[in-house]
Amino acid sequence: MFRGNYIQGQFVQVSGSESSGEWITRSPADLGDSLGSVAYSYAAVEEAVFSARNAQRAWRRTSLEDRVSLLKRYQEQIRIREAEFSNLISREIGKPLWESRTEVSAMVNKVDITIQDSMKLVQPFQIPAVMPDTLGSCQYRPHGVMAVIGPFNFPGHLPNGHIVPALLTGNTVVFKPSEKAPAVGQLMAECFHAAGFPAGVFNLVQGEREVGRRLSVHPGVAGVLFTGSYEVGTRIKQDTLQQHWKILALEMGGKNATLVWDDADLDVAVHETLVSGFLTAGQRCSATSRVIVHQSLLEPFVERLHAKAKAFRIGHWSEEPFMGPLIDSSAVDRYMKFIGIAAREGAELIMRGKALELSRPGYYVAPTIAWIQTPSLEQTRRSVFQQTELFAPALAVLGVADLEEAIAQANETQYGLVASVFSKSRDVFEKCREELEVGLVNWNKSTVGASSKLPFGGFKKSGNHFPTALTATLYCAAPVSSLEVAEPKPAEVLASAMPGLNWS
Ligand code: NAD
Ligand code: SIN
Repeated sequence: MFRGNYIQGQFVQVSGSESSGEWITRSPADLGDSLGSVAYSYAAVEEAVFSARNAQRAWRRTSLEDRVSLLKRYQEQIRIREAEFSNLISREIGKPLWESRTEVSAMVNKVDITIQDSMKLVQPFQIPAVMPDTLGSCQYRPHGVMAVIGPFNFPGHLPNGHIVPALLTGNTVVFKPSEKAPAVGQLMAECFHAAGFPAGVFNLVQGEREVGRRLSVHPGVAGVLFTGSYEVGTRIKQDTLQQHWKILALEMGGKNATLVWDDADLDVAVHETLVSGFLTAGQRCSATSRVIVHQSLLEPFVERLHAKAKAFRIGHWSEEPFMGPLIDSSAVDRYMKFIGIAAREGAELIMRGKALELSRPGYYVAPTIAWIQTPSLEQTRRSVFQQTELFAPALAVLGVADLEEAIAQANETQYGLVASVFSKSRDVFEKCREELEVGLVNWNKSTVGASSKLPFGGFKKSGNHFPTALTATLYCAAPVSSLEVAEPKPAEVLASAMPGLNWS
């Protein structure tokens, strides 16, 4: 099933002598379902960057209209293969089929949003008479070859969110999908191929960490558009420190809080928290992992949340569950370890996550609700359970007495991606929006499910101030400003404006 890397407009299998290793990929939702063996090669990184560099000159000169029409053809290919895409995402990473369908429609929509909305941010513009007799103008130019490094949890939508704006602004691309989702990466390459992109404009290299590292540090790569963990993002930053000119757009993790205030609609808050914490088995950068509840609602909130969490269906992606499995066995082990840590730190485990044995063997787990007793800022700061991004279905719930304390608790994290506020009061929401140290603050809506029509990015350990989604074009193109004088005045006239030149 695996066709190798996609370089210079064709799939190339890794030959025995070039192979740097291989791995077998299995569905986390059914360990009996193997997707095949993927070979990778360090030499392919060199070949893919070479191919992308060679294609760069012609691609940046291709008119925007032609680039748009090729991307529309790519969009059409995704549409045609929508069912195949959704099934493959679900098979490969285990998320329910209904959820994979929403991922694929986000990929389709991304093309139109980039063309219609994001490209406006990098439109050329002019300022007449920016100085006397001078036209000011600005044009945006591509950086060159962009390396796109993808995560596993949205194996199509998130890399696509970098690739589409990178191509549209005139860059060429080398994409390395997550080693946990090589098949979705391959299907994207097939869509670019079928759309008829010129050879070398889009390239794909399969591989694990070392392939990603070699790609990031390659001197022919002008920028690294990364979505993944803080640890790997920081590693990429360190590895490229001597290449200070490289664009690094780092979309990293989250430890997101939901605030439930005393006037909130309790059922809405419970519903949205359930979705925020447990959708995709908590494997979203935007997942809620801490719920900060006004004391007056704490008991009924926990009770209802527990009842709803016990009731939802966990299972194979084809069976319409609410939640599928974790991605692999090490994610399950890590989840179990952190539940133990929560207990040792004194949390009351209202619901204790455990590995589940379902009819199809997979990495299924039950969710966790941990009630933090007598919380304090000091305790939050020291809590490994409350500070670490778990990427698993686990919620810490804590009660607070006033809004200042709630905001302080929410900010007591090294991450800064998303927060949600549940309250009838716009004043409460506005205060939270002003004071929460995050890139997105939602009101009466879950932390997950961001819109591609808005910027998406966080502060602190969550990002490096290059938000993606709507604003992705801004890190894909550099402004070039000009002072234009089409018909300069004679030199003696110019010189007369400057004392002391003695021009004549
Ligand atoms: P990860 O960081 O483990 O891996 C991401 C990618 O980096 C993979 O393709 C991997 O092969 C590659 N990689 C690993 N080491 C590398 C190195 N040294 N140099 C270059 N590349 C390297 O992340 P993951 O487990 O796939 O995804 C989960 C993480 O992603 C979570 O932390 C989550 O919060 C984050 N995430 C962030 C966003 C966002 O938009 N902010 C969205 C989704 C996921
Ligand atoms: C993610 O990128 O991990 C989640 C984004 C979202 O929920 O919208």
